[in-house]
Amino acid sequence: MNTVAVIGTQWGDEGKGKIVDLLARHADVVVRFQGGNNAAHTLVVDGAKFILRLVPAGALYPGKVCVIGAGMVVDPIALLEEIAELKRNANFGPDGRLKLSYDAHMVMPYHRAIDRAREARLGKAAIGTTGFGIGPAYEDKVARCGLRFSELAGFAAFERKLRRNLAEKNRYLTAVLKAKPVPVGGLIEQMREVRRKLLPHLCDTAGYLADVLERGQRVLFEGAHGTMLDIDHGTYPFVTSSSCVASAVFAGGGLPGGRLDAVLGIAKAYTTRVGAGPFPTEIKTRLGDRLREKGAEYGSATRRPRRVGWFDAVLARRAMRVNGAATLALTKLDVLTGIDPVRICVAYDFRGARSTEMPQGPVRLDRVKPVYEEMPGWHETLGDKRELGELPRNARRYLERVCELSRARLAMVGVGASRDEIIVLENPFPS
Ligand code: IMP
Ligand code: MG
Repeated sequence: MNTVAVIGTQWGDEGKGKIVDLLARHADVVVRFQGGNNAAHTLVVDGAKFILRLVPAGALYPGKVCVIGAGMVVDPIALLEEIAELKRNANFGPDGRLKLSYDAHMVMPYHRAIDRAREARLGKAAIGTTGFGIGPAYEDKVARCGLRFSELAGFAAFERKLRRNLAEKNRYLTAVLKAKPVPVGGLIEQMREVRRKLLPHLCDTAGYLADVLERGQRVLFEGAHGTMLDIDHGTYPFVTSSSCVASAVFAGGGLPGGRLDAVLGIAKAYTTRVGAGPFPTEIKTRLGDRLREKGAEYGSATRRPRRVGWFDAVLARRAMRVNGAATLALTKLDVLTGIDPVRICVAYDFRGARSTEMPQGPVRLDRVKPVYEEMPGWHETLGDKRELGELPRNARRYLERVCELSRARLAMVGVGASRDEIIVLENPFPS
């Protein structure tokens, strides 16, 4: 297999970073194709923690090429900070390793201001966005007034467009949202620096990928967020503003149609969600707090406490199907150690009617009641296990049931935070 996509099947934070990191070792190129710095992948390498928001996880391996695809919205200041951090702490090396699509859109300070002002006005109805301006940046892209990286080349025209956009957004911020305007301040100067530092990274990334594939190299597509946050397939309107599912590798990543060999779905052994929106299996008791602490479930992008719940096989099956994913990596199984019994949501109850499908149409996900199957837990620590057969029997039974209900073949099991704490049954990039 030469092209593999790694996709979250829940509401993000499934532990994709760790899986992508593992697969990146066997890939030549790693591509992000949607979202922006609302994503954050935490990786633990030799005890050191790295948080990657925009740069794909291949960054931590020497020689791998990292691609930021056209489907992303990129805050250029955040990107410069991330590159500087990588150069300081991870020997990131020469600029040619990071290729930034000419066509990716820029997230500007006015996007952040609009995002935050709208959320503040929504009060209790807020989506709970990261506040990083992702939604407003995608709006501008679709409205055809966004700023693309390619426009940096002719700076005078770029500056005119930026000033025009800023003036328009400031009228919207003050008159409609009753918020403070964004000062032009040092923005133009900052963008000159962005231009100087990022121009060497700009690239026709779709053309580059086509060439790479012709040479028989391996490309890994790194999904961000998760299927339930997808703008079309997720729990709208409590979603992010990009397409997070596997098919987005074509539009956003520039992969030629039909060239995706495999999709690996990622799920946590339980479920988490940051921000508002329906979450049928949410645990609101002390057990939820215990899982949050044990699993360190605080947002990597925003530090917000994550909501925590049981594994939801109804949503997982839906996500596997939407993504065309055959295999599943289940992460953080170790966090369930000592929780006895464990539960899996196998169906939903809506006014007395049982369904094993995600509700569509007028039936709302926030109105269904989860139907649980209970299984005996296990008490052994798992961090040192490297074979499925070494896991406690009840943990194995849990994995089997999760995969059976999700219609998935188990490919990997995460048993701890660090790079090597993982059981690999099937690697889509065999060595
Ligand atoms: P936005 O992407 O900042 O617009 O936020 C929209 C929703 O998606 C909010 O509920 C966020 O918490 C959620 N979200 C966005 N990115 C991530 C992620 O990487 N992990 C988990 N939740 C996310
Ligand atoms: Mg994350």
